[in-house]
Amino acid sequence: MNKKIILMAAFCSLLSSNELDGKKVFETYCWGCHHQTAVAFGPPFAEIANKRTKDEIKAYIIEPKAMYKAFGYKRTVMTELKLNDQEIEAISNYVISYKGKK
Ligand code: HEC
Repeated sequence: MNKKIILMAAFCSLLSSNELDGKKVFETYCWGCHHQTAVAFGPPFAEIANKRTKDEIKAYIIEPKAMYKAFGYKRTVMTELKLNDQEIEAISNYVISYKGKK
């Protein structure tokens, strides 16, 4: 019985930490250039989520220099960030969660 409760608590904290991580990655690496729904230096996440798939978003974060032409930009000024797989997964989920939001 006790074990079950511990397992459930661990599972819940895993779920919520995933969400938290996305926001943390955003605040650490993206916030200077992107905002969630307002235009900053880069396009807002809501606009990105409405026109891209999660895989496209991931690819852009991993290597903007390889993707900007396919995305319709003439040049890229986005920094190539050195994120690990977990951070990339978390931030991509975070960006895509703004789909349909204004
Ligand atoms: C130095 C500023 C800067 C930082 C930091 C930055 N971006 Fe960007 N980003 C831009 C700009 C400007 C663009 C527009 C195209 C370009 O210049 O590459 C862009 C474009 C993008 C695109 C493609 C937009 C489209 O048309 O679909 C995605 C996705 C993206 N950024 C996600 C992120 C995420 C996620 C982070 C943080 C992990 C991040 N960016 C950090 C400036 C930045």
